[in-house]
Amino acid sequence: MEEFISKIRTIEWIKEVGGGFSRMVNQLLIPYEFEYVDIKSSNDMFDAIKTMIVRGAPAIGIAGAHGVALAALELADVQDFEEFKVKLYEKCEYINSSRPTAVNLAWAIEKQKEVIAGAATIQETIAELIENAIKLELEDIEINKKIGDYGAEIVPQGATILTHCNAGALATVGYGTALGVVRSAWAKDRTIQVFADETRPRGQGARITTFELTKDGIPTTLLTDGMCSHFMSKGMIDVVVVGADRIAANGDTANKIGTCTLAVCAKYFNVPFYIAAPLSTIDMSIASGKEIPIELRDREEVTHVNGKIICAPEVNVINPSFDVTPSELIAGIITERGIFKPNELHKAFV
Ligand code: MRU
Repeated sequence: MEEFISKIRTIEWIKEVGGGFSRMVNQLLIPYEFEYVDIKSSNDMFDAIKTMIVRGAPAIGIAGAHGVALAALELADVQDFEEFKVKLYEKCEYINSSRPTAVNLAWAIEKQKEVIAGAATIQETIAELIENAIKLELEDIEINKKIGDYGAEIVPQGATILTHCNAGALATVGYGTALGVVRSAWAKDRTIQVFADETRPRGQGARITTFELTKDGIPTTLLTDGMCSHFMSKGMIDVVVVGADRIAANGDTANKIGTCTLAVCAKYFNVPFYIAAPLSTIDMSIASGKEIPIELRDREEVTHVNGKIICAPEVNVINPSFDVTPSELIAGIITERGIFKPNELHKAFV
């Protein structure tokens, strides 16, 4: 079972004569089942992103790129090229509206829009959108391996690494960002271990991170979300590494709700706190985290577990899916171009 998960492709374009479709791991079934689902229309892709069949910022980005290719295939019968493009751009906006916080979605759709703008015919547009989606997929794995290798440098020998949510192979095309750092550190040092927050309300840490790390044989301990300060105060956490959904130009970072709590505790207990993310997660168009849109999700994610209500049915609920960690709490942002101080992110783009 060693390195099972790091060899799978979370999302992949399956080529067929005349086009193809998107195949992805159905993350709603983990850890009970490991199944792929085929997404064959742009509307189904919208739903797959919204319902979190596919989730994690880089994986959502690739899903968006696939969604645009699927939309183009659906519009293949339109006669007029200009009309085709107008309808396709509308579909781009529609797919982009499925989840607001992870900027990788907008980033990948923008890459597809550049392809649309550069193509000369409908058939050429379709073929190039598919090729571009496959290119972005392959690049994602390479980028994550680089993030992992840079990040492994900040992991002390025998470290206990605390992580939150799932920034792993299953949140990307493969290998992972924060868990890419874990994988690269593990390749060098078999004495490291991971503490994984369960990550309410969707339990991506409990369901997905523990699944993928234990499948790869990496020692993992599950914590509930409130346990971090207890273990930090006892000196049992050496470093925190988490992923990101959007990083502002000043380094403020949106990630799964609860990440900021970890960063505050880490500052208090002098534990270094790192973000691992590709450059496609950095949004240099916004100055600070105040401008990051935070997705609000359904109350049932909080009130129910596995379809069963766990609280008074009439209770009020607010369910922000992400929080923003202020840049001053972040020791460094690990990217495919190296590790940057939050206030030096511009250097990553030269
Ligand atoms: O709501 P999710 O599961 O899409 O949230 C995922 C996270 O917050 C991840 O930490 C982030 O997208 C980074 S994934 C490499």
